[in-house]
Amino acid sequence: MTNIEILEIDEIVVETPTIKTFFFDWHFDIEPGQFVMIWVPGVDEMPMSLSYIYDKRGITVRNVGEGTKALHSMEPGDRIGIRGPYGNGYEIKGEKILAVVGGIGGASVLPAVEKASRENIEVDCALGAKTQKELLFLDRLYDLTNLKVATDDGSMGHPGFATDICEEMMKGVDMVITCGPEPMMKRIVQMAIHKGVPIQASLERYLKCGLGLCGSCVIDGERVCVEGPVFTGEELNNFEEFGKYDRDSSGRKKPLERPKQTY
Ligand SMILES: Cc1cc2nc3c(=O)[nH]c(=O)nc-3n(C[C@H](O)[C@H](O)[C@H](O)COP(=O)(O)OP(=O)(O)OC[C@H]3O[C@@H](n4cnc5c(N)ncnc54)[C@H](O)[C@@H]3O)c2cc1C
Ligand code: FES
Repeated sequence: MTNIEILEIDEIVVETPTIKTFFFDWHFDIEPGQFVMIWVPGVDEMPMSLSYIYDKRGITVRNVGEGTKALHSMEPGDRIGIRGPYGNGYEIKGEKILAVVGGIGGASVLPAVEKASRENIEVDCALGAKTQKELLFLDRLYDLTNLKVATDDGSMGHPGFATDICEEMMKGVDMVITCGPEPMMKRIVQMAIHKGVPIQASLERYLKCGLGLCGSCVIDGERVCVEGPVFTGEELNNFEEFGKYDRDSSGRKKPLERPKQTY
């Protein structure tokens, strides 16, 4: 069932120079990994993961364009629309898991890490970002996981990518969950499949309706908003577009934007 509400923002926390968390009162059941559509009046509607689902509710947003810039300029007391929840979530199994988190991907993965921790599942975590200042949820992950950090510029932890430290970290875990830049997830999925470790990854595509109707989010015939955003390693391995193509706002297939370095 779709719930549509207009909410007041209660609190805003600056997480990094480009990322803020917005807390609000919203009570519907949601599984870690599911998303909502956030409406910024007069500007845009955008898909966002719930980054806090237990003690309080919130979304964590990177300022990348018109809609997210408008959200970043809001103050506590301002109103936004929310509809959802939509999509599927992570299905966590086993006694020990590895979470591989890149950039804003922590917004999707953190509630899954919290759920695992509540169920006494041990969590190892590889957290990557461009710089120390852009490491998202460092304290939250430090408290909940056996944490290793990588930064592109070497300002904290391993100098390089989160993928560099994952090969070793995959030993002895029952499954891997990941969310981050698609080239990073592609590498992690290939690594996990090679090692025979089950993996689930959350994909980002251009979403318009979030309801499975418009087709803007399709990857190899599957709708990210309904069959995803979380897909298994087997599904991702069969997607020809995964790690290669994205779609623009009019649904046209285009080569995936890659960061300057390869993961
Ligand atoms: C399931 C899902 C969960 C997401 N969760 C988060 C989250 O928790 N935090 C977060 O910061 N971001 C999240 N995103 C990405 C976020 O939706 C986009 O960054 C946002 O919509 C950009 O809007 P904009 O107007 O600021 O940018 P624009 O100026 O419109 O575009 C900037 C970039 O964002 C992409 N984009 C624009 N609109 C959409 C859209 N409707 N859907 C997907 N991509 C879009 C564009 O392709 C472009 O690369 C998620 C995306 C998906 C699909
Ligand atoms: S966003 Fe419309 S079908 Fe997925």
